[in-house]
Amino acid sequence: MQTDESQVKWQPLLRREEIVATLRGPFLPNCMKIIKNIGREFSGYNILESGKRLLDRKPLQCSLYVTDRCNLDCGYCTEYDNSRPHPSLDDLKKWIRKIRELGTMRIALVGGEPLVHPDIVEIVRYCRELGFATSLTTNGFLLTRKLVAQLEDAGLQVMQISVDRMTPSPITKKSFKTILPKIDYFRDSKISLHITGVICADTLPESRAVLETGLSRGIPTEVRLVHADPLHRFRVDRGPREELERFIDSMIERKRRGEKIHTSEAILNYQRSLLRGERVEWTCVAGYKLFFVSAQGKFWICSMVHTDKHIMDVTLDDLYANYRKKSCQEGCGVYCAVSASLLVEKPVQVLGKEIVSRAKRVPSIFRRPLTADADKATHTAMANPDGTREMNGSTKSSPSADDRVTLRERI
Ligand SMILES: C[S@@+](CC[C@H](N)C(=O)[O-])C[C@H]1O[C@@H](n2cnc3c(N)ncnc32)[C@H](O)[C@@H]1O
Ligand code: SF4
Ligand code: SF4
Repeated sequence: MQTDESQVKWQPLLRREEIVATLRGPFLPNCMKIIKNIGREFSGYNILESGKRLLDRKPLQCSLYVTDRCNLDCGYCTEYDNSRPHPSLDDLKKWIRKIRELGTMRIALVGGEPLVHPDIVEIVRYCRELGFATSLTTNGFLLTRKLVAQLEDAGLQVMQISVDRMTPSPITKKSFKTILPKIDYFRDSKISLHITGVICADTLPESRAVLETGLSRGIPTEVRLVHADPLHRFRVDRGPREELERFIDSMIERKRRGEKIHTSEAILNYQRSLLRGERVEWTCVAGYKLFFVSAQGKFWICSMVHTDKHIMDVTLDDLYANYRKKSCQEGCGVYCAVSASLLVEKPVQVLGKEIVSRAKRVPSIFRRPLTADADKATHTAMANPDGTREMNGSTKSSPSADDRVTLRERI
């Protein structure tokens, strides 16, 4: 029997009502979440922005000490001084304008402890008004839900909270015991949070747990070797070399697996070379592509090398004159400067590895929002640190030796 084509009823894959129901239901929100998550994986790196600064002679980043004062007294730190008053908001604004006029794209607000400055929200707002990509590094002790909301409203994009241990010690009080309850303030916040810890003999026994605690909550986390003071003295015991090396090696491995280790493989390799006493070939771009401004408005090459020149007197030629190998390069522990220098020297290699590492997280980004109640699980993991490690897709899909770390024992 011949089939009359006009009689065949076309069957759509989805009926109209089903399409409408899907669009009204979880489909669109899930797409939005996936796009947001992919954006987050690549945010903070600002590839296009950094790219521009790789081609011209202008600076990429300035670290501005908004105060020398601090509410803590970490045993390894030489960057605070409570005998000095806060700089005024007017002075800070003047210096921030000048830093922007030099063409600087990113500003990192540091200290001392930036949150002890009474005008910190206004400082952030001003940086954003001038168009800076703006980050802030804090010990987190003064963070409240209200302050996080105010900083977000002011436009803060990135916050680094420093956490060295699970519990406080005489060397450092910066521990998850204080910070963990505050992590929830960042749920649904536009501020991109990451954790950074210092490794020394005092913190090393807990460094793995610090790393694990951050990563298991989906927070990009980094722990890095303690560095010397400007006179090349270590103020604390650095810890046993072999153990430190094994730990750095394990981070390199995890980074390659795509876990959220918040530093480049180049910097991890650099730290391993430091431990082995191996020579690394690089040219320091501190004072040129990145520089520091003290809480007195002085232009500093980096946190360790200071000048008496005022930032208001600095020209682009002054900056370019600092593009040279420096006598202090050997053993340098100013990792942000080493990182920028390696990026300028080998952009394709450094960026390429970072992009590959972040791209490895993309499949878990697709899984996350499509899993029923994924957000609820995330929230539970934050609120219940002893719960299962649901937040970090990559950790879950590739268990490691670090899985042995149990938070219940530690906190
Ligand atoms: C000087 S602090 C200022 C911001 C804030 N008070 C804090 O602790 O995060 C900036 C960063 O430098 C780190 N730091 C200070 N002294 C260090 C050292 N000797 N070696 C490695 N990191 C150090 C701190 O842990 C912190 O992450
Ligand atoms: S909290 Fe920051 S500035 Fe204060 S002593 Fe510790 S590392 Fe230094
Ligand atoms: S080599 Fe290190 S210590 Fe010396 S200027 Fe560069 S960043 Fe600073």
